[in-house]
This record gives sequence, structure tokens and C-alpha cells, in this order.
Amino acid sequence: MSKFIPVNQPIIDPTDIKAITKSLKSGWISSEGPNVKKFEEKFSKFIGHKFGVAVSNGTAALEIAVKSLNLKKDDEIIIPNFTIISNALPALKLGIKMKFVDCNIYDWNFDLNKLKKEITSKTKAIIATHIYNYPIRMDILKRLCSKRKIIIIEDAAEVFGQKLFKRKCGSFGDISTFSFYANKQITTGEGGMITTNNKKLFQKFLSLRNLAFGKKNRFNHEDIGWNYRITNIQATLGISQLKRINQIVKKRHYIGKRYYQNLKYNKNIYIPEPIKKYSKNIYWVVGVVIINKDIKLNASKVISKLKAKGIGTRQFFWPMNKQKILKKYKFKKDDYKNSEFISNYGFYLPTSLSLKDDQIDYICKQVNKIIC
Ligand SMILES: Cc1ncc(COP(=O)(O)O)c(C=O)c1O
Repeated sequence: MSKFIPVNQPIIDPTDIKAITKSLKSGWISSEGPNVKKFEEKFSKFIGHKFGVAVSNGTAALEIAVKSLNLKKDDEIIIPNFTIISNALPALKLGIKMKFVDCNIYDWNFDLNKLKKEITSKTKAIIATHIYNYPIRMDILKRLCSKRKIIIIEDAAEVFGQKLFKRKCGSFGDISTFSFYANKQITTGEGGMITTNNKKLFQKFLSLRNLAFGKKNRFNHEDIGWNYRITNIQATLGISQLKRINQIVKKRHYIGKRYYQNLKYNKNIYIPEPIKKYSKNIYWVVGVVIINKDIKLNASKVISKLKAKGIGTRQFFWPMNKQKILKKYKFKKDDYKNSEFISNYGFYLPTSLSLKDDQIDYICKQVNKIIC
């Protein structure tokens, strides 16, 4: 292989370009344009929620989601320990207490048994983030939370288009959030969405997204909001990409399955299988964890060896208990062993939708040569 294979490259096809050109020619370029609402309606209909609010990115969606709950100082929110920092930032910035739950070793989502032990009468919300491949068992989580009146914020940024049993991921949360960054199933360059069935929350999201303008006097603001608006141009791209979601999900699964077939015999690594009883692997990223410590390789060593072979990869998320900016939270030393392990030994392989079979086979050959 002569050309470098990047970890991910979005596909912007001719129909996307045609739609964007038309939108630009219409003169609607800001968030005031008609396609923002259209995108929100089409997206939330697809998910199965009544309302959708498009925002500037997935991190913004989470900030609005948490702020809309009006939590008090003593209330607690629980988030995964193995996740993106975007899950921790809202509570950190709003000064809300936070607890962190270690992941399990099989699908890297937070461990529901460990989560159960962290719930107290102070727990008011849980951010349930689906990580990389399989969804959290939201059926179990919902039973756990509805008894205790705990709000679920479902972070479905990575699993748009995936199903748990027959129900779409992102439809389980009281509030669900999504990202349309360039590496997501559908992209608007940067972008995000918040969906819900709750009209009051929906109105709050609209207000927080748009500087919480006053109702009577526009410039006497009702709350500390943000400008987290999305442009009409981005929404146009979103609508266009949304039309291809089923095709995109199929291709991601095909890519992941081919990696799995090539790598499953390597006993030094773990790669999640393509299908379980309750869900098909979305393979948002194709994650690999080195499980044989005797070979003295960690993720960063493998990443540099693969780079030398023209293959772009990424290390797994760095766990919350190791984050400098979260030092003030009390992390018990031995509570996060799984997250620590996979963040040192896990990395993910290229998953551009344009990947060819021979590129995947080449990458696997190199992985098998290096991790042996
Ligand atoms: C699970 C999850 N949540 C939130 C985000 C943040 O999204 P954004 O980059 O659009 O802010 C990401 C980004 O990759 C993510 O993977």
C-alpha cells in the first residue's frame, strides 16, 4: 500500500454538494434558515422522539441537556469512567456533584452492576453513553431508573442508526444527544442534536441554545444560555446525509465484520464480535485491545508501528479518573481497573466508509505481524 490510510475520512457525495449549493444560493446561511427546523423534524422522527433541537456539536448538546434539569448543588449525576470528556464537562462547569462508573471488559460500556451500587437518593441523572460498538442494555437501565425517578441522558453520539432489540438507540433516553462531527455516521462538519418527548424540556433546549433571550424583552435574558446554534448550511448537509443512514450503517458493519474475520484468530488481542442476541455491532470504530501482557506491547507502541506502515489509528479514550481537570473528584484507587486497562492497551483501526477490502486485509496483516 503506497498511500497513507487515515483513521477516518467522511464521504460528501454529489447529492450533498447539490443540496448545499442550492441552500447557499437561497441566501439562507444562518440558523434562521428553514432547513434547521426541517432537519430537527426529520431527525427526531427517525429516532422516535417528538422533539429535536439541532446544536453546534455533541458537547453542546450534553451541556444543554444537563443544564435543563436544574440540578441543585447536592444532587448527583453519574457518568461512565471510560468515555469522552464531553460527558464530564457539563457537571464540572455547572458545579454539580459527579460519580464515575467503571466499564466492563467486553463491550467497554459502563458496568450496570457497578452502576447500581453507586446510585443513592441523591442521584438525579445518569449519562448513559454507548461506547464504540454495542449499546448499553437500556432496557435494564430504564427499569433501574424509572423505579427511582432518575433521568436518563442517553449519549447516542456514536451509535446513530443502531438498534437494541428492535428499538433505535437514542430513543431510550428522557433526553438523548447526538454528534455530527466528521467521524460520525452522518456529519454536518460540526453539529449535534438533542431529542426528547418532553415539551417543557424541548422549550428549555431551544432557549439555552439561543442565549436564553427574554420572552417579553428580548434583550433581558432569562438564564445563562449559549450561542450553540447550527447553520442552515449544516442542517442542509444533515438532511442530505440522513437519507443514506441505512446504507451507512450497513457499510460500517461490513467493514467491522471483515476486520473481525481477519483478526479473530489472533489470541493476543480482543475484538468484539459482529453480532449479539440483542444488537448488531455498529462498529463506529473498530476497537482492538491487546490482552497478552507477555508480548510487552501497549497501544502506543502498536500505534507508532502501524503508522510506519502507513496506517492511521487512535488510542482509546483516556479514563476520567486519570484526567488532570477532574482531580477534585474522589476516585478510589482500585475502582477503575477495566478503564485503565483498556485505555492503555486499546486502539482503533481505520473505518472510513470508502475503505476497500484489500486495504482492510492489508491493515489486518500488519496488525497480526506486529502483535504476535
Ligand atoms: C460519545 C460521545 N459523546 C459526545 C461527543 C462529543 O461530540 P462533539 O465532538 O460533536 O462535541 C463524542 C465525540 O466524539 C462522543 O464520542
